[in-house]
Amino acid sequence: MENSFIRSVKISLILVYLVIAAGSIVRMTGSGMGCPDWPKCFGYWIPPTERAQLDWKSDHQYAQGQVIIMNEELRVANSHFKSSEAFEEKYWDYYTQHDYALFNAYHTWIEYINRLLGALAGLVVLVMTVLSFWNRKKNIAHPTISFLILLGMGFQAWLGKTVVDSNLAPYRISLHMGMALLIVLGLIFLLFSTEKKAFSIAGNTKIKIWAWLAVLLTLFQIGLGTQVRQFVDLQMHESPALWLDPAPIKFYVHRTLSLLVLGVHIMLFWMLRKMKRNVRVFNQILGLIGLEIFTGILMFYFDFPFSSQPLHLIIAALLFGAQSFFILQLMSNRNTYDL
Ligand code: HEM
Repeated sequence: MENSFIRSVKISLILVYLVIAAGSIVRMTGSGMGCPDWPKCFGYWIPPTERAQLDWKSDHQYAQGQVIIMNEELRVANSHFKSSEAFEEKYWDYYTQHDYALFNAYHTWIEYINRLLGALAGLVVLVMTVLSFWNRKKNIAHPTISFLILLGMGFQAWLGKTVVDSNLAPYRISLHMGMALLIVLGLIFLLFSTEKKAFSIAGNTKIKIWAWLAVLLTLFQIGLGTQVRQFVDLQMHESPALWLDPAPIKFYVHRTLSLLVLGVHIMLFWMLRKMKRNVRVFNQILGLIGLEIFTGILMFYFDFPFSSQPLHLIIAALLFGAQSFFILQLMSNRNTYDL
C-alpha cells in the first residue's frame, strides 16, 4: 500500500504540472472563454464541435442548462423540454454571467481538455488521499496533507469557475496560479517525505540563510511576474499588438530582479561547491533560472514568440517545486549529509 501511495503522489504531481501547462496554453491561445459555462461546456459534458450544433432546432429534445447562440447572444434552456416548430421564449433564459457569445471549436476543445486534465488530477488526488489513510497510525502527516491538497483541488476547481464567470479577470488568474503553487508545495512535501533517496543536507546557518533568501526572492519575483502578466492581459484587451509597449515600471523591476535571483543562487552554488557538495536538485534550480531568464528575454525582446509565455510560466512552477524540495532537504534532519 505504501508503494501505491508513493506512486499516487508522483502521478498527482505530474498531473498538476500538466494542468498548469494546459492552463497556460489556454491563455496563450486565448481559449479561456472557449466554454462560457462551468463545469459543463455550452451545457454539455462533451462540447460541440461545430457552430451549427448551437443553433436553435425545432422538434429537438433540450436538457436544462443546454446553451444555444441566438442573435449573437447566449440562451440557456431553463427546463427539459422538446421544442416545437417555432422558437418559444418561455423556455429560454438569457445567460447573464457575461456577454461573450462566440463559438470557436479550437478554443472550446483546448479549454475542455484543460478541464478534463483538471478532473483527472482531482481524481488521482482523491485516490492518493484514500491511500494515505492506510498508514495513518505510522504517519499522520500524510493523510492530513493529502486531505488538505484534496480540499485545495476542490477550491481550485471553484476558483476556475469564478475565473470564467469574471470573464477572465486578471487578478483571479493570479489567485488561481497562487493556489496551484500551494498544491505543488503540498505534493512536494509528500514526495520528499516518501522519497527514500532524498537525503537531508543539514546545512549550517549561513547556508540556510542564503537558501531562504533565494527562495523568498524567487517567490517575490514570481508574484511580480504575475503582476506583469496582468498588465499584458489588460494591454491585450485594449491593443493586442502592443504587449509591453510601453512597459510599466514593475516590468523593469521584474527584469532587473532576475539578475539578483541569479546572483544569490550562484553564491549558494559556490558555497555548496566549497563544501564539496553536489546537490542534484540545486543544479536543476540553476538550470531552470537560466531557462526562465532566457524565455523572459525572448518575450520582451522578440515580441512574445509562440509558446514563450507558457514556457515562462511552466519553468517558474518547476523552479518553485525544485526550491521547495531543496529547502525541505536543507531543513530536515533525516539521515546523511552534514554540511
Ligand atoms: C528568475 C527569473 C524569473 C522568474 C522566476 C520569472 C517569473 C515570472 C512569472 C511567474 C510570471 C507570470 C507568468 C504567468 O502568470 O503566466 C512572469 C511573467 C513575465 N515575465 Fe518573468 N520571470 C523571470 C525573469 C524574467 C525576465 C529576465 C524577463 C524579461 C527580460 C521576464 C519577463 C516577463 C514577462 C514579459 C512576463 C509577462 C508574461 C505574459 O504575459 O505571459 N521575466 N515571470
